[in-house]
Amino acid sequence: MQKIIIDTDPGQDDAVALLLALASPDALDVLGIVTVAGNVGLNQNSVNALKVVELSGRTEIPVFAGCDRPMRRTPVTAEHVHGKTGLDGPDLPDPKIALQDHHGVDFIMDTLLEAEPKTIKLCALGPLTNIAMALVRAPEIATRIKEIVLMGGGCFEGGNITPAAEFNIYVDPEAADIVLHCGAPITIVPLDVTHHMLATPAHLERFLNMGNKTGDAIHKMLTFSERFDLEKYQWQGAPLHDPCVIAYVLEPDIFTGRHINVEVEVSSELTRGMTVADFWGVTTRKANAHYLRHGDTKRYYELLVQRISKLP
Ligand code: RIB
Ligand code: CA
Repeated sequence: MQKIIIDTDPGQDDAVALLLALASPDALDVLGIVTVAGNVGLNQNSVNALKVVELSGRTEIPVFAGCDRPMRRTPVTAEHVHGKTGLDGPDLPDPKIALQDHHGVDFIMDTLLEAEPKTIKLCALGPLTNIAMALVRAPEIATRIKEIVLMGGGCFEGGNITPAAEFNIYVDPEAADIVLHCGAPITIVPLDVTHHMLATPAHLERFLNMGNKTGDAIHKMLTFSERFDLEKYQWQGAPLHDPCVIAYVLEPDIFTGRHINVEVEVSSELTRGMTVADFWGVTTRKANAHYLRHGDTKRYYELLVQRISKLP
């Protein structure tokens, strides 16, 4: 059983990642879900997280609101991809469950300080603001984190919010810089992987035919959010980014990568948020991340369908 904290900005792909985690009580002890400003504003992200937890039936899982803006930058959101609510597609009921009173950054810090060292993994699905703030306020947590698995960055695939930068890193590059240099074990799930994990019509149909309300909701979520990527990339499907983080925690051998140095641009406006991944080892910079490069798409969707079919 792996203990995890999920930091997220739901977002349809975040929602599928949350549902995959909540569908895996045999393997994952989800200690809490923390929301962060990203795809849409914090308040809406938080409502979306509560809706997804209720959809899963796992209403015992606590949800905490974290930071409502990046550490230094003006907030950047992605309604153009995710819709006005950030979770456009299904019409999910207003949540009956409420947010916890504890601030999400306090929850991350306190949980890591109270737990046995190296027993909790942080799964980051959005901008890294909350995790960076926890590290600034309590640097000692860095040695207590078992692993940070984050969706973000890109190298061979370039960027998706600018030609150089992936959205999660672009929104809060200073936070990414702090996380990348905190010393905790880090696994990066970049666009180089997620751009090959495409939600093709055949994959989407499996959610539609699942026969549960969760599969139906996911089908509506992804057929909404895909329209932006299909038009942009002209691919057979839209990349399904965030569930790769949970899939990696559940079945790491779906993916392959290498331990390399990754830095992030925080000075230039032109390349703000660019992750400079020394994949070929051409510098002497110290390796600081397990950078994933490939994933087995078939196994990924098998895992998603097999586990999510168990939800209501
Ligand atoms: O670039 C993809 C990432 O940005 C995903 O986490 C998606 O949810 C958005 O937050
Ligand atoms: Ca996200």
